[in-house]
Amino acid sequence: PVQNGQSLRSPICCIMGHVDTGKTKLLDCIRGTNVQEGEAGGITQQIGATYFPAENIRERTKELKADAKLNVPGLLVIDTPGHESFTNLRSRGSGLCDLAILVVDIMHGLEPQTIESLNLLKMRNTDFIVALNKVDRLYGWKTCRNAPIGKAIRQQSKDVMNEFNRRLTEIITQFKEQGLNTELYYKNKEMGETYNIVPTSAISGEGIPDLLLLLVQWAQKTMVKRLTYSEDVQCTVLEVKVVEGHGTTIDVVLVNGVLHEGDQIVVCGMQGPVATTIRALLTPHPMRELRVKGTYLHHKEIKAAQGIKIAAQGLEHTIAGTSLYVVGPRDDVEEIKEAAMEDVNSVMSRIDKSGEGVYVQASTLGSLEALLEFLKTPAVNIPVSAISIGPVHKKDVMKASVMLEKKKEYGTILAFDVKAYIDNLKEEKKREAAEEAVFPCILQIMPNCVFNKKDPI
Ligand code: GTP
Ligand code: MG
Ligand code: NA
Repeated sequence: PVQNGQSLRSPICCIMGHVDTGKTKLLDCIRGTNVQEGEAGGITQQIGATYFPAENIRERTKELKADAKLNVPGLLVIDTPGHESFTNLRSRGSGLCDLAILVVDIMHGLEPQTIESLNLLKMRNTDFIVALNKVDRLYGWKTCRNAPIGKAIRQQSKDVMNEFNRRLTEIITQFKEQGLNTELYYKNKEMGETYNIVPTSAISGEGIPDLLLLLVQWAQKTMVKRLTYSEDVQCTVLEVKVVEGHGTTIDVVLVNGVLHEGDQIVVCGMQGPVATTIRALLTPHPMRELRVKGTYLHHKEIKAAQGIKIAAQGLEHTIAGTSLYVVGPRDDVEEIKEAAMEDVNSVMSRIDKSGEGVYVQASTLGSLEALLEFLKTPAVNIPVSAISIGPVHKKDVMKASVMLEKKKEYGTILAFDVKAYIDNLKEEKKREAAEEAVFPCILQIMPNCVFNKKDPI
């Protein structure tokens, strides 16, 4: 697709909001999937990505009879968790996107993570549309499956509309208290100054056509420069995962540029930079979620924007949240390796130089940073001697247990949002006598986190 002679990439849209406002369900409704019901506790605990091709958007919005000129190839939507523990994932998601959907539950109004999300969006100057979700829960709501919101509203009784207007007014006031003007999108006369609200239901689909059309039209109208496709690879690692038949893979969002099978890449690893070669470039089918196990499409090359799974050797210790670099024919690998490690080096430099302190382990660079900040606060003030990212393995326990001789009270691993594979270790150690004595305590500090009961701890 070409606009003013320029080719546009797909906009990246992040979906944010308080827990259980219906973010994943809205995407399920557009995809025709049921990802939400497969989630542990019905709670999103990872960032996801779904690609919606322009044809599907056109089909879904045709009832609005817009002169739906879509100049973008599609839309890449990033799902984020709303649970309070995952601020780092919301931050990573919002850092990647061109625009956002802020989901508000019409029955609850603005909630703590709505406001946190708002602040993340304000901080980065990211434009967003409010999806005022769960309208079907208004008492007496008459279902108009997948209808544009105007059509659905015309079918409602006076009582339903009174309740709708009362709640809407209240929510507009709450936004005002946050310093933002908002208005129903079809009444909004100051687009750009006043943020748009689209009433939706993720269960019966009312308002979904409006939400999709508004997103795409808004993006192509106001973001041409930002969405102009650039050859320079811009790519962020979302998650590191073992996939049967592919070994350790990384899920990435490619914001700009092209990736090819066979490209030499550099990622940031826990033990230093990793230079490797792309063995396979995989995507889920269009309209399917990258974070859900399924069948993958193999590609020789992929152009931005896309959510991609990359299989390559040596990805085990890749750190989520960092950038992926492609080594071009004229590039110096050593320079790229240095660039790749910049983010991590700045975190590493925060470790206590005295060599005495606890061992801290977290799932991602972002959560590790958050945890180190927390441990430094005066009320907590716990020194840190070493850090690691990823599951707790035997080597971590061995490293941490060094502290038992130096300063016993620091002989502890503080583990956030990671699994601890200590079973094997125990077996091995049973053969040795002093089993318990050499084990530092592994403390899972997930105060607000949702435990997956299947985790081996
Ligand atoms: P997190 O990712 O955990 O923050 O939650 P979420 O915002 O993705 O919400 P989710 O999609 O998990 O939905 C939470 C609950 O609300 C589920 O039980 C959904 O079925 C329900 N729900 C979501 N959208 C709607 C809606 O439009 N109407 C009604 N009635 N229920 C909804
Ligand atoms: Mg969710
Ligand atoms: Na949920």
